[in-house]
Amino acid sequence: MRLSGKVALITGGATGIGAACARRFAEEGARVAIADINREGGLRTAIAAGGHFIACDTSRADQCRAAVAETVARYGRLDILVNAAAHLGGYHDAAAMSEEEWRAVLAVTLDGVFYCSKYAAQEMFKTGGGAIVSIASVEGVLGAASHVAYVTGKSAIFGLTRSMAIDFGARGIRVNAVSPGIIDAGRPDIERLKADPAVMRFWRDMTVLDRMGQPEEVAGAVLFLASDDASYVTGQNLCVDGGWTIGHPPLRGHYQDGEP
Ligand SMILES: NC(=O)c1ccc[n+]([C@@H]2O[C@H](COP(=O)([O-])OP(=O)(O)OC[C@H]3O[C@@H](n4cnc5c(N)ncnc54)[C@H](O)[C@@H]3O)[C@@H](O)[C@H]2O)c1
Repeated sequence: MRLSGKVALITGGATGIGAACARRFAEEGARVAIADINREGGLRTAIAAGGHFIACDTSRADQCRAAVAETVARYGRLDILVNAAAHLGGYHDAAAMSEEEWRAVLAVTLDGVFYCSKYAAQEMFKTGGGAIVSIASVEGVLGAASHVAYVTGKSAIFGLTRSMAIDFGARGIRVNAVSPGIIDAGRPDIERLKADPAVMRFWRDMTVLDRMGQPEEVAGAVLFLASDDASYVTGQNLCVDGGWTIGHPPLRGHYQDGEP
């Protein structure tokens, strides 16, 4: 078991990728706390992972601080933080996005990552270190249409990851990011789009591996970065995207071998 004796706090662990991380971490021996605004989903994951649910809105610094404190009060320490909570917002041209929506998206997608990491690091210093893994996105690597606040928040996670990795490295904390591509994580917007064959075709065409990813495949990468297997890895972003960001896949069905 790769996380034996470790305590992990997972934000956004009620559903999707965060929930898959919670389940996998528990299988690997970790004691897991789940911080989320979704009480029902959070309790469900907590039961599945044999863990503890904490009601927490990560856009609020005081609630992030309290979630870290509650994890330590319950389990005695904190070794791993996974920042999976995010707020997507709607899809609007940047010129049409309201200031309120810009702030609401960044409050969760970026500010919450900073708050949780800051308070988690303060606890990790006490026990000689730990690991922080933040879920970013291929949208933060590349940019995306009509999604300016989310893209800005996700790309800022890379700077935050590198800066915190530098600040905390000598005190034993590694800080990394994982950037998923298109993941079949049950999110309602993705479920809706999956029903459209043209969208599915586009997603598969953009993905070298020619399929959507599964939340468990992201959880495997998060586990690697959170575990001692990654003991010399810090400040990095690992794309778990089926090849979305490595270049354009072939135009399937349009070229024959040997054609100029
Ligand atoms: N699914 C994908 O294709 C995909 C691709 C790239 C990146 N991601 C990222 O992966 C992470 C997980 O997304 P998912 O696809 O599993 O979706 P999801 O909606 O299942 O998970 C997001 C979780 O964050 C929680 N959350 C939202 N606002 C919160 C707040 N203010 N405080 C606390 N919790 C809050 C939600 O309740 C939910 O449990 C997110 O950071 C998302 O941006 C997902």
